[in-house]
Amino acid sequence: MATLDNPSISVSKIAIIGAGVSGIAATKQLSHHNPIVFEASDSIGGVWSHCSYNSTKLQSHRRDYEFSDFPWPQRDNSDFPTHVEILEYLQSYAHHFDLVKNIRFNSEVVEILYVGGDHDVSSSFGDLPTTHHGTPLPGYPLWQLAVKTNHSHTIQWYAFEFVVVCTGKYGDIAKIPEFACNKGPEVFKGRIMHTLDYCKLDEDGATKLLKGKKVVVVGFKKSAIDLAMECAKANQGGEGEACTMIVRTPHWIVPHYWIWGLPFSIFYSTRFSQFLHQRPNQGLLKALLCLLLSPLRRGVSKFIESYLLWKLPLQKYGLRPEHPFEEDYTSCQMAIVPENFFSEADKGKILFKRASNWSFWSGGIQTEDNSKLEADVVLLATGFDGKKKLKRILPHPFRNFLDHPFGVIPLYRGTIHPLIPNMAFVGYIESVSNLASSEIRSMWLSALVDKKFEVPGVEKMLSDTVEEMNVMKRSSRFYKRHCISTYSINHCDEMCKDIGWSSWRKKSWIREAFSPYTSQDYRKQN
Ligand SMILES: Cc1cc2nc3c(=O)[nH]c(=O)nc-3n(C[C@H](O)[C@H](O)[C@H](O)COP(=O)(O)OP(=O)(O)OC[C@H]3O[C@@H](n4cnc5c(N)ncnc54)[C@H](O)[C@@H]3O)c2cc1C
Ligand SMILES: NC(=O)c1ccc[n+]([C@@H]2O[C@H](COP(=O)([O-])OP(=O)(O)OC[C@H]3O[C@@H](n4cnc5c(N)ncnc54)[C@H](OP(=O)(O)O)[C@@H]3O)[C@@H](O)[C@H]2O)c1
Repeated sequence: MATLDNPSISVSKIAIIGAGVSGIAATKQLSHHNPIVFEASDSIGGVWSHCSYNSTKLQSHRRDYEFSDFPWPQRDNSDFPTHVEILEYLQSYAHHFDLVKNIRFNSEVVEILYVGGDHDVSSSFGDLPTTHHGTPLPGYPLWQLAVKTNHSHTIQWYAFEFVVVCTGKYGDIAKIPEFACNKGPEVFKGRIMHTLDYCKLDEDGATKLLKGKKVVVVGFKKSAIDLAMECAKANQGGEGEACTMIVRTPHWIVPHYWIWGLPFSIFYSTRFSQFLHQRPNQGLLKALLCLLLSPLRRGVSKFIESYLLWKLPLQKYGLRPEHPFEEDYTSCQMAIVPENFFSEADKGKILFKRASNWSFWSGGIQTEDNSKLEADVVLLATGFDGKKKLKRILPHPFRNFLDHPFGVIPLYRGTIHPLIPNMAFVGYIESVSNLASSEIRSMWLSALVDKKFEVPGVEKMLSDTVEEMNVMKRSSRFYKRHCISTYSINHCDEMCKDIGWSSWRKKSWIREAFSPYTSQDYRKQN
């Protein structure tokens, strides 16, 4: 490790910020450069380590959340693995590939500085600066990182040629609703907690918080649904109280991966099924075919809706979504509902209250129709603010580049911001399996850093990201979730092509077209 003119600053080639799934995937793929990984917490695993409830499980089968070169033990076990099993899997991956030696735990990056010389600070999307994407490792540092370690509380500065940001889209920073004066938490006499803090409770602590208490859970997505279920479990028996969910937008929920006896994967995870959906840079002929085939695509969505409406009492509880199923799928919002969720609702342990607007009163929550719900505890399952995490550490003007008029971070190949030199972002665009998305992006990034290919000019990268955002906007009203689930295979193909790998690898074209795409389909080729 060299030093700058300032001897207290260590200089190295590559920094990785975060040791969650994305951070360890990036560490493995860039290990030949011996990166330094800064992890704020004392362990690897990110959300699986510090943002999971006791009941949290993977929402897919283990085969769909698997590194391409590291099979799960008992990979054909069809149970959804618990967060503890996922952590064990990630830990054994890190140990197997000797990644832990690169990680500095309890080391939070609190500030990043650009030291790469002239970067036009006034530049905006219309005024393109020269970037260094063509020279990922120029031989001198472009970024300095301020790192705070838990033990010393002192700041140590480091300098790097390239920085990979893997701080995660979820966890760490809670999204808290805002309220008018005298309508917020200050007037409520009970306890308020965001899921981020609820995650820190062990089983006893969680039961103590919920048992015999009137609980209101705000939200109707995966964190909220699991939380209502934990609340119902803690309140079994005559003494138990009910838990009320505040539902702003009903979303489609799914009981399992079978629809009218067919595996769910055939609807969205094969080349044929994704062919029905729009994708970026698809060309005129493909766009035309997509238009012609749109009734079939809508038919698939209706077919799934028909099953969900038959299987789950969504009508009965006023939870039938007003948007098509495919819009939830396209925006990665589909949640698996725990077994017995609706039997707890039938027993009166889980209640639902539709409300777009709500506020606090001293005894609980008031909704826009002036209903007053009494509560001892209000649990906010209102999501996370991943962008704030980035903005907190990125310097001006780069932090402004994260704000695009579309509301999502424009990332070329889901990884490179065209206007931010020598920096990559892994884990910010979602797909069905976020682990696979992070792994293929890390492989692509490794090849870019090793100059096996070059990215196009800034203008072309920007126009590609805008095209991608337009596709998302046309596909779902929830496009701000930034998800590529309906063209994830094309996304992987494009990255394989950049690296120089073949993208069609199955034994026959029938399999290629109709069997599910997995991490084996982008596995590293020599
Ligand atoms: C409860 C929950 C369940 C989920 N279930 C699924 C699922 O079933 N399937 C699926 O595909 N996806 C799921 N997800 C999405 C999940 O976020 C991804 O699958 C994946 O784990 C994200 O990994 P990551 O490394 O990108 O981010 P994270 O897991 O958030 O890791 C980020 C890491 O960066 C560290 N960090 C943050 N800021 C700094 C800093 N300034 N300095 C140093 N370190 C820092 C954090 O401590 C953390 O360890 C779930 C998310 C949550 C919250
Ligand atoms: N594997 C698992 O078991 C598991 C468990 C938990 C989370 N996750 C994942 O983690 C990610 C985050 O999930 P999440 O559920 O924590 O967050 P989320 O998906 O962002 O959902 C937030 C919920 O809060 C609601 N909400 C936000 N602000 C509100 C307000 N002011 N008033 C009323 N409702 C409000 C939202 O309603 P609107 O829809 O109206 O915005 C939504 O229902 C997702 O990717 C999810 O799949 C997975």
